[in-house]
Amino acid sequence: MNNILPPKAGTYQLANYLETVSDFKWKSTYPHFSWYNTNKVNLTHECIDRHVEEGAGEKIALIYVNGNTREEYTFAQLKQKTDELANLLKHQGVKKGDRAFVFLPKHPDCYVAILAIIKIGAIAGPLFEAFMEEAIFDRMYDCEASVLITNLELLPRVPVEKLPHLEQVLVTDDIEREGVVSIPRVVKNVPAQASITEWVDLEDGMIIHYTSGSTGKPKGVLHAHRVMIQQYQTGKWVLDLKEEDVYWCTAHPGWVTGSSYGIFAPWLNQATIVVHGGRFSADEWFEVLQDTKVSVWYSAPTAFRLLMDHTTSLSTYNVSSLRHILSVGEPLNPEVITWGYDTFHLRIHDTWWMTETGAQLIVNIPSAPIKPGSMGRPVPGISASIIDENGKELPRGELGLLAIKRGWPSIMKQIWKNEEKYQSYFIGDYYVSGDLATMDDEGYVFFQGRSDDMINSSGERIGPFEVESKLIEHPAVVEAAVIGKPDAIRGEIVKAFLVLAEGVKETEELKKEIQTFVRYKLSAHAMPREIEVLQELPKTQISGKILRRVLKAKESQKTKEKV
Ligand code: PRX
Repeated sequence: MNNILPPKAGTYQLANYLETVSDFKWKSTYPHFSWYNTNKVNLTHECIDRHVEEGAGEKIALIYVNGNTREEYTFAQLKQKTDELANLLKHQGVKKGDRAFVFLPKHPDCYVAILAIIKIGAIAGPLFEAFMEEAIFDRMYDCEASVLITNLELLPRVPVEKLPHLEQVLVTDDIEREGVVSIPRVVKNVPAQASITEWVDLEDGMIIHYTSGSTGKPKGVLHAHRVMIQQYQTGKWVLDLKEEDVYWCTAHPGWVTGSSYGIFAPWLNQATIVVHGGRFSADEWFEVLQDTKVSVWYSAPTAFRLLMDHTTSLSTYNVSSLRHILSVGEPLNPEVITWGYDTFHLRIHDTWWMTETGAQLIVNIPSAPIKPGSMGRPVPGISASIIDENGKELPRGELGLLAIKRGWPSIMKQIWKNEEKYQSYFIGDYYVSGDLATMDDEGYVFFQGRSDDMINSSGERIGPFEVESKLIEHPAVVEAAVIGKPDAIRGEIVKAFLVLAEGVKETEELKKEIQTFVRYKLSAHAMPREIEVLQELPKTQISGKILRRVLKAKESQKTKEKV
């Protein structure tokens, strides 16, 4: 497929890639931030309060849609709401550095809670709304969370009594209930604290996202307030956000895309964001694009592939406000780019980054050609290479590990309580992503897969170990190996190979029961969509370690044969 050139008449905030790459320094963005003059640092202040101080208080910051519900909030209203909640949290004794988790659906309350926590210098731990008991426990326990903000619908999934560090639970419902603080009941009556915003250092922690790897339980990736530097700049260059834009990022803030680019990048750029509650439905999504007049849209390949089936119904909607589309989280196949071009007459811009990187690193920008199949080129200020396992840079065109020179503004601050894991990401001067890629002579990067067993289903990162550990808790299962199986819509699906306990019969009911077991104990996205029973699992001869790779290779072969 040929390169797709940018429209000739466009005006872009990053107009000349090569020129910018040659002389850009991250320091040049500092004067944009109010702390440059005041020395007072806080991400929430830059996202909300400063816009109010600078006269944009009446501008719509957030449009919430869910079925027939539509609510709008100005920056001034958001400031008031985050101030009130921050004041309450301070009154309740929440301090700088405390971990306060947020377990709420995609709803303005979730956005307000995260920003209020950050405002008082605490660390926000957003949880994906579909998490079940075990997934919640692992994260909150590891993080020694002392505060939880949730609602009555989700609260039953939280094992409150098993979490020794959890001191208080606040809910967004207006109720009287023992053991929980009802935010709407008390928020207006709390005495005003001396100061609400906690001024911090750029290096202080502010948000923690748990993410899966190929081994062990999910790890807590802690980000510092300095992420704002790169989130602001990529919001401008890559999302191409302008103040008049209506921007929709479809990810939940429990995932890094939903916080970095669902909250921070757009609000640092003073754009209006759209929050869509409820589940995925093609018609509702088209309606959101039409009714809120979305101009910039950031989503994921699986969502685009699901929408592809509904292209005909799209013709009944007016989505002419749309001017820029971006994608993240999983390989963007050229078919989707073609569909986007035919359907919206717009290019879909792939972007690559990770929870650990805090912001976009490899991108397609609006002013440059897109090479279908490539994730784009490094953001100016980012130096990417393809290296071998010893950290040696490989020649252009050769397959190797995608690595980034250390020291970009949004790189994670630490892996929570796990320095060894943090250090394991680095070889010499490089952060090593674990992704395999090639780079062409013009610096375009082509994703080729993972170098480890991590699974990517619908853009969600799933650790096989986590799922296997859950599977063997089921009484019928003796051994389990979990892999990502190629899938036309979701990129990969979770497939489990099981050895059953002696005397247990393989039946469809049993498979369903095991699926439900994972779904309700861990989470829906981690549930194996396919289960195959084997007599034994392939293992290494010496250590007896399960060889997921052998299973994966066989599965890929089967898929190819079918095509
Ligand atoms: O394998 C890469 C894949 O998602 C991983 C990062 O997952 P996560 O930390 O959950 O962050 C997702 C969103 C930032 C990467 O190591 N990935 C991410 N973007 C792309 C991608 N794979 C192919 N193409 C992409 N554009």
